[in-house]
Amino acid sequence: MTRLRTAILISGRGSNMDALIAAARAPDFPAEIVLVLSNRLDAPGLAKAKAAGVAVAAVDHKIYAGREEFERSLHAMLEIHRIDVICLAGFMRILTPWFINQWRGRMLNIHPALLPSYRGLHTHERALADGVKIHGCTVHFVVPEMDEGPIVAQAAVPVLDGDTAETLGARVLSQEHVIYPLALRLVASGAVRVEGNRVLGALPQSEATLVAPEEISAMPAGCDGDQTV
Ligand code: GRF
Repeated sequence: MTRLRTAILISGRGSNMDALIAAARAPDFPAEIVLVLSNRLDAPGLAKAKAAGVAVAAVDHKIYAGREEFERSLHAMLEIHRIDVICLAGFMRILTPWFINQWRGRMLNIHPALLPSYRGLHTHERALADGVKIHGCTVHFVVPEMDEGPIVAQAAVPVLDGDTAETLGARVLSQEHVIYPLALRLVASGAVRVEGNRVLGALPQSEATLVAPEEISAMPAGCDGDQTV
């Protein structure tokens, strides 16, 4: 089996990176993580990747005159490592159409919302402010328009009474760690194909639905649950 050579681009803590590295340890995983690349030299994820035995590199965007100069360096680094697929995982730089077109169909991103809802930042705060009952995360192919592009996988979570952006964000994040490895596996194995803006051919789907709130089978008032019939 040829495993696709995968780079993960990060700017911060790298918990999705951890999930991808862990999943790719399985011998039958169709992608291998060969490089973790950051635009920040102090990204905590870099040390974790290094400890996990993955090659790391940093390209400091601040030393470049413009976005495209920075991206040409990134691109060169990716070519040196013969990268097939890029996973953006908390990479906090906007990418130009030039870079995105170099990697079109070969670059994934994870977004902490059910796209096309809540593109951009502060997704959990905005979901709470809107009072939505279901929120989630999305892995999609990257296209020049921000937070758009064919959707590979999504996971939904309920929004609970009393949630804060932190508690809701943590619930979403735990699902990000599930769907990013799943999406990379689907793409790297060739199990899915892109038709227009749709990704088709994934696993068989059940008809199961997620409803929030779930119906509560309430007991009659005053009932202690210990009655005999
Ligand atoms: C995640 O919430 C991801 O959805 C977003 O940035 C965050 C990165 O977190 N794109 P981590 O660095 O993977 O922990």
